[in-house]
Amino acid sequence: MKDAAPQTFYLSDYTPPAFLIDEVSLTFRLAPEATRVISRIHFVPNPDTTDRSFFLHGEQLKLISAKIDGHDANPTLTPHGLTAEVPDHEFTWEAEVEISPATNTALEGLYMSNGMYCTQCEAEGFRKITYYPDRPDVMAPFHVRIEGDLPVLLSNGNPVDQGEGWAEWSDPWPKPAYLFALVAGDLRATSGTFTTRSGNEVALNLWVRPGDEGKTEFGLQALKDSMKWDEDVYGREYDLDLFNIVAVHDFNMGAMENKGLNIFNSSAVLASPETSTDANFERIEGIIAHEYFHNWTGNRITCRDWFQLCLKEGLTVFRDQQFTSDMRSEPVKRISDVLMLRARQFREDAGPLAHNVRPESYQEINNFYTATVYEKGAEVIGMLYRLVGETDYYRALDMYFQRHDGQACTIEDWIAVFEDATGRDLTQFKRWYTQAGTPHLTVTEEWVNGTYNLYFKQETKPTPGQPDKQPLVIPIAVGLLAHDGSEIVPTTLLEMTEAEQTFSFDGLTERPIPSILREFSAPVVLHRDTNNQERAFLLAHDTDPFNKWEAGRALAKDVLVRMITKGTKPDTGFLDALRQMALDDTQDPAFRALAMALPSQDDIAQTLYASGVTPDPMAIYGAVKTLSRAIAEHMKDDLPALLAANTVTEPYLPNAEQSGKRALANTALSLLSKLDNGAAAQAQYDAADNMTQQLSALSCLIRAGAGADALAKFEQQWHGDRLVMDKWFGLQVMLAEPEDAAQVAQTLTERADFDMKNPNRFRAVFGALAGNPAGFHHPSGDGYRTMADWLIKLDTVNPQTTARMCSAFDTWKRYDADRQAMIRDQLERIAAKPDLSRDVTEMVERIMAA
Ligand code: PHE
Ligand code: ZN
Repeated sequence: MKDAAPQTFYLSDYTPPAFLIDEVSLTFRLAPEATRVISRIHFVPNPDTTDRSFFLHGEQLKLISAKIDGHDANPTLTPHGLTAEVPDHEFTWEAEVEISPATNTALEGLYMSNGMYCTQCEAEGFRKITYYPDRPDVMAPFHVRIEGDLPVLLSNGNPVDQGEGWAEWSDPWPKPAYLFALVAGDLRATSGTFTTRSGNEVALNLWVRPGDEGKTEFGLQALKDSMKWDEDVYGREYDLDLFNIVAVHDFNMGAMENKGLNIFNSSAVLASPETSTDANFERIEGIIAHEYFHNWTGNRITCRDWFQLCLKEGLTVFRDQQFTSDMRSEPVKRISDVLMLRARQFREDAGPLAHNVRPESYQEINNFYTATVYEKGAEVIGMLYRLVGETDYYRALDMYFQRHDGQACTIEDWIAVFEDATGRDLTQFKRWYTQAGTPHLTVTEEWVNGTYNLYFKQETKPTPGQPDKQPLVIPIAVGLLAHDGSEIVPTTLLEMTEAEQTFSFDGLTERPIPSILREFSAPVVLHRDTNNQERAFLLAHDTDPFNKWEAGRALAKDVLVRMITKGTKPDTGFLDALRQMALDDTQDPAFRALAMALPSQDDIAQTLYASGVTPDPMAIYGAVKTLSRAIAEHMKDDLPALLAANTVTEPYLPNAEQSGKRALANTALSLLSKLDNGAAAQAQYDAADNMTQQLSALSCLIRAGAGADALAKFEQQWHGDRLVMDKWFGLQVMLAEPEDAAQVAQTLTERADFDMKNPNRFRAVFGALAGNPAGFHHPSGDGYRTMADWLIKLDTVNPQTTARMCSAFDTWKRYDADRQAMIRDQLERIAAKPDLSRDVTEMVERIMAA
């Protein structure tokens, strides 16, 4: 059903639930198009409110019967649920509904994927399973019976009993409905155990479809590592005897933290050296940790309402980042996270979709699973960590778990814990949650009689609905270097609270070179009038690895911006500095690979736009190409040795050390391919025994215009593996020449194995189109048109994934009038689609409103 005028929900409208639930029993009689769900729910009036109105959410349900205390309930059906007359004391609700998992292509609620049943209930999917108060502040223990002719029947918690064609599960931990899960299918487990530090043995299973058994080992190990890490670092133990993970092929997101039964997009859990890249392994390890960590930050302590989403997501992202840093390399992880933050969150914050880390209103909550809630949410916690220090941070976290275990909480609760644990007043700090936009921090310096002054000014531009901004608390980590490269003032945390503020350093014998915002201590854009000598100096000498990398990045950006705006040639100073960095064997290869990567085309567009220049995607594309070629020429004689020295000859391991070397080797290979027409890449392709090397060689060949043969071989080798074929689809679009990209995407959709119902495959093609900026923004408008064509088609099938992909258009204000007009046409075309989903309606409206 389409809403004439979709409802807007406001944080300020929160009211407590009229009824609480102390017990839920569900019976599922599975059938593809007519599953029966029988519910028995015991309601108790909420003592915290006098409201006694009874409303249950429910969507797309066929109501068969409803009873209250054994009598016909005679409910009144509304577009989003039902109401009924209820007693003014506790009572039992019993209902039977029918749903159709086989036709549920939205992948929300109970649906079928490749012959198996599975669920996705966050945020508001449970209401598509049965009538229920589908809000996170209603928590209850669930008892579940599954009847179905399938070998494996799973739900949350512990198994109670099972027989031929049925199983019963019981989850003792009260939980909101969004954490409910059910899985039924022909599945195979890879099993293990983990003994908690208090001696409880937990059975672990990773369930996959037959054929995928060879891809489970790494995930299982990552789970064990996560369980151990959360005990060691946060003192958090697992709280059931069983932990199940299930891989499904059709899934809208990465994975879901359902209590005791995590459900994963197969791309976020299945891994093997032959089929997964180093980057895949690292991502999988991080996502497994993320979902596992939710058991405490999300499940045991959950959110009062969906406006508080960052309470669980920001904190859990922060925790998974800490985990990856500990498992791998801290500086490399920090640099990668900042790259991601700038690419996605700064972009979001600078455009029409900017919103608070804690939003204040929404039409469709699914549209707020964003980089701002997740990644900026994690940055805000990182700032708290830096401000209060490690000891107090963990003291506050202990207090949080102690005080709020079993509760549904708010950001106010979170802040109060930090205030109580540290005695700090965090009133101003809280603005990070209630003010959107990325602060711009400008710094100037002054050297007077041995005193060095750093003068900072902060400014946040208006964002939709928030014209006026207030000063934030900004932790600025600063170190000062002498001209010989030694450090005269080690990293010091400055706490900026005013709009403008000066910090002084006394007793220095020379004017220092400042290293500002070390570790990227706050999610801000830093402006400083400097020159390339100083950047090169910091690239060579900064003791803070983040700022060392940042100096190189600033150099590269400066070169690219001058090439684009002034038509200059790539300058030798930069090329020398880059070469020196690349060949510096004292540096970690992973770090060198990151330092050699040029800023992304979108990053350059963002930078140009922020400095008042209208970016031309074609010019950016050309400049990056020219500069890469110049780097290759400049390092011509070094590349073969750099490649050889970093080619891993030991058996493949997905660890930080090997993957760092492979990253550097592949950087060398891609430069080399610009000079040798792909000869070295062809050799690597033919010899590769792991996906990292195979895929990077394939990329080099495509870029060198010599990929046809390898692409055909790749398809022949991998046509039976969906996840690998997603890479094959994506790469062709991502690396297509700008004028061909839209057509390449379109042609790929005409293949029999392009299935738009599978979000991974759809994203492989259209995520890649959006990720090919010169192709997407090609002056022909083909990129925009093809994207819109397919978003319109997908909306009918899967509104959530469609809505998320609308963000491809969110940068339209950056571009010239022609492009703006073309994008507007496409957005209007999408908006005009009959029965456009609520999800996409909201996204298109917000994007166009700017
Ligand atoms: N809660 C999930 C996570 O971040 C994400 C998710 C949201 C998955 C909505 C599915 C649907 O771990
Ligand atoms: Zn999460």
